[in-house]
Formats: sequence, C-alpha cells, structure tokens
Amino acid sequence: MIKTKTGDLTFKSVALNKGAETALGMSRADIIGQLSESGIKGRGGAGFPVSVKWNFAAAAQSDQKYVVCNADEGEPGTFKDRVILTDFADLVFEGMTIGAYLIRATKGILYLRGEYTYLRGHLEAVLAKRRKEKLLGENAFGKKDFNFDIEIRLGSGAYVCGEETALIESLEGQRGEPRNRPPFPVDTGFMGHPTIVNNVETLAWVAAIFANGASWFKSVGTDRSRGFKLFSVSGDCERPGVYEFPLGITISQLLGTVGGEGAKAVQVGGASGNCVPSCEFERTLAFEDVATGGSIIVFGQNRDMLQVAKNFMEFFLDESCGQCTPCREGNLKLMEGLELLEQGRCPMKYLRELTALGETMQLASKCGLGQSSPNAFLTIVKHFKDEIMGRVHLSH
Ligand SMILES: Cc1cc2nc3c(=O)[nH]c(=O)nc-3n(C[C@H](O)[C@H](O)[C@H](O)COP(=O)(O)O)c2cc1C
Ligand code: SF4
Repeated sequence: MIKTKTGDLTFKSVALNKGAETALGMSRADIIGQLSESGIKGRGGAGFPVSVKWNFAAAAQSDQKYVVCNADEGEPGTFKDRVILTDFADLVFEGMTIGAYLIRATKGILYLRGEYTYLRGHLEAVLAKRRKEKLLGENAFGKKDFNFDIEIRLGSGAYVCGEETALIESLEGQRGEPRNRPPFPVDTGFMGHPTIVNNVETLAWVAAIFANGASWFKSVGTDRSRGFKLFSVSGDCERPGVYEFPLGITISQLLGTVGGEGAKAVQVGGASGNCVPSCEFERTLAFEDVATGGSIIVFGQNRDMLQVAKNFMEFFLDESCGQCTPCREGNLKLMEGLELLEQGRCPMKYLRELTALGETMQLASKCGLGQSSPNAFLTIVKHFKDEIMGRVHLSH
C-alpha cells in the first residue's frame, strides 16, 4: 500500500481524458463540490484547498482569466514534477483544462523551470497532439463556447520565481519579485486578471479525481490530508527516487521503504522545510504535522549538521530577492552566526539572539522565502544543540 516507486505511480492507471470529459459534463457548482469532497490540497507546499482557490477565481468578475501551472520546481531536493511532466504531461494539461472550464479562462500558461528546457519539445508535442485531437483550442472537448489553449513559458533560474506572485511578475516580463498580498492572484493575477496558480502535481491529481471519483481520492490519507502524494527522496539512503505514499505515513515508514533506516535526521520540505531528528521519526508527513511539498533529504549518522545548515543558508543568501529587510539582512546575520559557530566563537547569548532573529524573520518577511529561510537554522539549532554546542563559546 505504501510502496510505489518511479514507474509504478497511480497516475499510470488513470484513464486519459476521462477526468476532463467527466468534469466538463458537470455544472460548475458540482465541479467545486467534487473538489471539496475529495479534500485535495495544493501539492506545491502550502497545502491550500484547491476547491477554495478555484471557487474564488470562478466567482471573480472579469472578461479574461488565466490558469497557470507552476512548474518552476526550484526547491532543493525536489524533482517529482519533472517526472510528472515527463511521463504524465497529459494529466497536467487535463487538470489545467478542468480549471479553465470552471473559472472560464481562455488561456493557460505552464511556467517551466529554466533547467527543464530540455522538456519543452516533449511538452509542445503533447500540446500539439491535444490540439489535433480537439482537446484544446476552439470548442475544446466538443464543448460549445469553451475556447482554451496552453502556452509554455520558461523561467530563468531564480528560486523566488516559484512564489506565485513573483512568477506572475516574471510572466509579465518584470523582475521576478513577490508582490504584496492581498490582492491575491485569484482576484488580481496575470496582467491584472483573476488567475489560478497551481503546482504540476496538484493539476494531475485534479484530473485523476474526476476520472476516478472524489471518494476514491479521499479513501487514503488522513482527515486533514487526503490522497496520495509524490515525494522526491535523496541523500543518505539506499534507494533514492520519486515515491508515492498516502499522506499521513510516518517518516520511519518512508525511511524503511527507501533504505534510509539509521538516519540521523531528515530534512522535510527542502531548504525551506524543517529538519526532523531521529527521535521524531514517528511523526507523520501530512499538512497537520510535518508539511511538505515533497522534498525529503536523508542525513546519515556522519553528516555534520552545522554544514547542513550552512549549505541551506548559502542557498538563501543567493536566492533572496533583497526586496525586504528581514530576509535580506536576516539571512546574512544567520550565515555569519553559523560561521562563528564553526569557528567556536559564537557566544550562547548571541546564539539566542540569532534564534530570536530567525523567529522574527518567519513573521516579518514579505514572502514565503524569507518566512521559511530560517527554518533549517532554527530546527538544527533546536535538535542538534549537543552537536553544535561543542563549537559555542561558553564563557559568555
Ligand atoms: C520561494 C518560493 C518558491 C516556491 N516555488 C514553488 C515551485 O517551484 N513550485 C510550486 O508549485 N510552488 C512553489 N511555491 C508555492 C507557490 O507560491 C504556490 O503556493 C503554489 O504554486 C500553489 O500551488 P498549489 O496550491 O497547487 O500547491 C513557492 C513558494 C515560495 C515562497
Ligand atoms: S522575503 Fe526575501 S525573497 Fe521574499 S520579498 Fe522579502 S527579500 Fe524578497
């Protein structure tokens, strides 16, 4: 039940176009009803209910609306969207088509990570086939007055462009910097029009839900985290790769499947996620416990956790867009603190101040990047005190 590895994912057994055919035969209220019944939450990390987001966009008044697929996949340790785009692109485009029909959008955009340029030809070929089969374009799926097509646009390698408002700025030709929210994209998105932005995996599950039924989807998972989820597993384990598990499995169950038993810690959710020590491996991978967009990095017993924290902090120093002070300056200070720790020159008092700074950044940063960049630092300092204490200057 919990062991599905690359090549044997549920998506493989979903009947193509059945989901869109079913959804497009339903009333818009029933489409929302099915999404709500399924309990599906976004797979990009934040876990926002799809039914709520799509309902807002459907209700927004505008002569033009957009559906955007977020295929930026920039979180360190994440590579499951690449697998979905390679093997199940039709399902992703189907999910976008269902969203477009529901909110009355005529245009879809797939924002593809710059490093995935090699996938463009493949994705264009799938789109061309869908146009030929009249599943895109005028009267798509034979639905009168439903005109919808999808364009692929390439990102340029900035992690922050995965944040939905920065992504929209980038699509508009601006520097990819996050916007103030509200207004939210469902109200004021691409070119000022209502826009739904969803993760690749989310859209593929939407197609699967309409093909197989909401009750099928919600029959696995927990009350607050329904369905299966794809995980990108890397690091110190015997069998890294893309896995599918029901939400709610424990970290130790996952480690048992991937050959990561005996790990010292697991970074759940990538650089912006949390470091979970072995004493907490019975915790569950679910939105209500350890939430994740799917990145799992396993750290074996020999890993130096201070170096792990430094590595993540270097990433954020590079990727902060610099727009707001808590993130721009805070990441710099946390990095300096890690360097002092490494040299054994960080007094306890200063370490406590850095912890307080990290907590302030979580609250005061403008976007999810700065709100989550201190997570690794904070959880590593909290759980691996003994390991890094040896380096702390105790006389202060
Ligand atoms: C710095 C940053 C990077 C992000 N990168 C991605 C990404 O690569 N892919 C993605 O789907 N969501 C990413 N997100 C989340 C998006 O802002 C947004 O919540 C998501 O695309 C919504 O889709 P979902 O509801 O289907 O999960 C990122 C968020 C932040 C703050
Ligand atoms: S939190 Fe960081 S990435 Fe986000 S707007 Fe502020 S400086 Fe830019």
